Amino acid sequence: MTAPAASPVLSVRGLSVRFRMRGGAHVAAVTDARFDLAPGECLALVGESGCGKSVLASALLGLLPGNAETAGSALLGGLDLLTADERTLARTVRGRRVGLVPQSPAAHLTPVRTVRSQLEETLRELTGVRRPALRAAAEAAAERASFPVGHLDRYPHQLSGGLAQRAATALALIGDAPLLLADEPTTGLDRELVDRTVDELRRHVGDDRALLLITHDLAAARRIADRVAVMYASRVVEIAAAEDFFGAPGPRHPYARGLLDALPEREFTPIPGMPPELSALPEGCAFAARCAGADETCGTQPALTSGVACHHPVTAALEAPRA
Ligand SMILES: Nc1ncnc2c1ncn2[C@@H]1O[C@H](COP(=O)(O)OP(=O)(O)OP(=O)(O)O)[C@@H](O)[C@H]1O
Ligand code: SF4
Ligand SMILES: [Mg+2]
Repeated sequence: MTAPAASPVLSVRGLSVRFRMRGGAHVAAVTDARFDLAPGECLALVGESGCGKSVLASALLGLLPGNAETAGSALLGGLDLLTADERTLARTVRGRRVGLVPQSPAAHLTPVRTVRSQLEETLRELTGVRRPALRAAAEAAAERASFPVGHLDRYPHQLSGGLAQRAATALALIGDAPLLLADEPTTGLDRELVDRTVDELRRHVGDDRALLLITHDLAAARRIADRVAVMYASRVVEIAAAEDFFGAPGPRHPYARGLLDALPEREFTPIPGMPPELSALPEGCAFAARCAGADETCGTQPALTSGVACHHPVTAALEAPRA
C-alpha cells in the first residue's frame, strides 16, 4: 500500500492581484495562479522582469499596497493568507510561518542598527534565545547565510549589495518557518556564493518545510528546484518537474522554451519583442504577439492543463546544451 501524500504546506487557488490605478484603469499583476507546495519541496518561479513574481510573494505575506485587490485563496496550515487580518499576519505569520528573503534587502534592513543587533533581536523574538547565548547564536545565524562574522557590527549602508543580501537571508532563516519565500536571494553574488546560498536554502527546507524560490537565475533553479513554474504577463503558463524542464523533454510552452534557448550555453537568442502592458492584456494568449506558433485559436485564453497553458505546446525534444 502506498502512503497517503502529505498535505501541502501551501495551497494556492485562483490567486489574482490587480492594482487600481488613477482614471479607473487596472494593472493585472497576478492572474489565477494555482499551485501547491509539498513538504520538503522547492518550487522555482521564473519569468521576465515585471511578470508578477514579487507581487505574488507580497500577496502571500499580506504586504500588498492599499490599491491592490486580491481574489482566490492561499492556505497555509488552515489559514488563508489572503484574508487573514493584519494582527494575525504580523504576530503569527511573517517570520514565524512564512519567512521572506526580500528582493530589496537594503530596504528591509533597519538602517540605524547593526546587522548583529538585528539578528539578535530576531533571535530573541522568534526563538527565545537570551544573553549570554545570544552572541554565539547571532554568529551561527550569520554563518548559515555565508555572512562574514567580522562584518556583523556594520550598519546596512556599510554593506555591499551582496552582503546585504546575505544579511537578509540570515534573518529570514531564523524563524525556521514552514514556508520560505526567497525573492531573488542571489542577486549580486558570484557563482560560488550563489551555489552556497541556494544549497543552504535547500538544506533549510529539509523534509518538512517548503521553498518558493523566485529567480532570474535558471542555473540556480536547476541546481535546487524540484519543480519549475514559469510566469508570463501575470499568469503561470507552465509548471513542470525540474528534470523534465531542464532535461528531456524540455519546456513545452513556447515562452518557457524561449527562456532556455536564450541561455548562452544554448542558442543565445533572446525572445523577440516585449511582454504586453499588464494594464492592457489581450483577451487571448498574452504571448501571441511574440510567438512563432500563434494562430487564430490563440485569440482565446489557453487553460493550464497538464502543466502547460498553450493551444500548441512544443513537442520537439530540447536540444542538449552546447559543449
Ligand atoms: N503598487 C503598484 N501599483 C501598480 N502596479 C504595480 C504595483 N506594484 C507592482 N506593480 C506592477 O505589477 C507588475 C508585477 O511586478 P513585480 O514586482 O511582481 O514583477 P517581478 O516579476 O517581480 O519583476 P522583477 O523580476 O523585475 O523583480 C509590474 O508591472 C509592476 O509595475
Ligand atoms: S497559446 Fe498560441 S500564442 Fe500562446 S504560446 Fe501557445 S501557440 Fe503561442
Ligand atoms: Mg520581483
